[in-house]
Amino acid sequence: MEIFDAVVIGAGAAGLFCAGQAGQRGLRVLLLDHADKVAEKIRISGGGRCNFTNRDLDPRAPHKHFVGQNPQFCRSALSRYTPQDFIALLERHGIAWHEKHKGQLFADRSAEDIIAMLLAECAAGGVTHWQPCSVKNIVFSAPSADGTCAGSYKIDTDRGAVRARSLVVATGGLSIPKIGATDFGYRLAQQFGVPLIERRPGLVPLTFDGAAWAPYAQLAGLALPVEISTGAKKERTTFQEDLLFTHRGLSGPAVLQISSYWEPGAPLSIHLAPGVDLLAALADAKLRSRKLLANVLAQWVPSRLADAWAAQSSDWQRPMAEVPDKALVRLAERLTRWELVPTGSEGYKKAEVTLGGVDTRALSQQTMECKAQPGLYFIGEVVDVTGWLGGYNFQWAWASAVACAQAL
Ligand code: FDA
Repeated sequence: MEIFDAVVIGAGAAGLFCAGQAGQRGLRVLLLDHADKVAEKIRISGGGRCNFTNRDLDPRAPHKHFVGQNPQFCRSALSRYTPQDFIALLERHGIAWHEKHKGQLFADRSAEDIIAMLLAECAAGGVTHWQPCSVKNIVFSAPSADGTCAGSYKIDTDRGAVRARSLVVATGGLSIPKIGATDFGYRLAQQFGVPLIERRPGLVPLTFDGAAWAPYAQLAGLALPVEISTGAKKERTTFQEDLLFTHRGLSGPAVLQISSYWEPGAPLSIHLAPGVDLLAALADAKLRSRKLLANVLAQWVPSRLADAWAAQSSDWQRPMAEVPDKALVRLAERLTRWELVPTGSEGYKKAEVTLGGVDTRALSQQTMECKAQPGLYFIGEVVDVTGWLGGYNFQWAWASAVACAQAL
């Protein structure tokens, strides 16, 4: 049976990076993945250009950009491997990049460049790579009582059995099952008694009851900047981003971001004309304009939205001067505090990430090793650490991978 220092399961962002780093420290590393291709999520990320990190990440305040039971857990790893470190690595590999909106960094050419870089890092570390390769069974042999024999893991795969003193689980979350996502990491955690936080889709479009949504379904494809909030007063979360109407509900960065904070059954509140004092603007227009209300409204929101909104009340279908004051107040309130309760989300087939996962209380924040199970490590998205949209999830994958690789 072949013996390795470490076996890394999952050749995605975290697994590839961890394997390469550990190999370059001189360890014998086996990286395996059940899918045909490596890093499918990197390949499809950022519209094919991979939003690989975010310059605005503040490792001293991870709660600003990360969600989970204990966002402070990721502080140590994020401080020791920063966006600047990953940028320096890209530059060593000659990969050009650029900044877009809100600190988000993308590869200039293609996400394939980042995958090629991670594979080159693995090659530089002499990593053995088995793919496709499925794990059938894992058994832990505890260290001998006299200390002469260290603990180790026997990993049975469809390419034979191997043994290693360290086992790194980098199998990611549940989103996009058709490109290889599985619950393997969570099942393995359960096998070793590692607690889990309940999972649900994050960074996901939200859906609404068909009949209630009918007046808005015609707006599918429309995008506009909004301010969106959820949560009770003390824990209110707000984003200012673009909203996208879909046939079944709402999407776009605003909704993807808020979905990670939204509790099923809770309302969302949306300001459809952020930065505009809509009541004052409408009252002023009533004095000056002869146009229909919908045409006036189109100064501050897209005209398709203005038309659809005005169609909801006969009071709103009149020329400005004839709209009763009460109807203007009602309109301003509805557009600036549009309260709606999603019935659900588009689920893992559309979610970018999985919220919840391996309970961080069971892991060392320095190394990602299980406190109660020597030699077993969890890194990347399988852990209950979820970043905002905008490169934060990849930065967590890189940082947790490095924290683990340095400890193997
Ligand atoms: P990842 O999912 O990358 O890798 C897990 C690996 O484990 C896969 O290769 C899988 O095949 C393998 N695996 C699973 N089960 C297995 C089993 N039973 N046996 C063996 N192998 C198994 N983030 C970001 O920061 N910027 C972005 O631009 C985007 N864009 C984006 C777009 C889309 C469409 C999605 C779905 C997601 C994103 N993300 C993102 C999120 C990001 O892709 C994600 O958080 C990281 O890929 C997580 O890295 P991991 O290595 O933990 O899992």
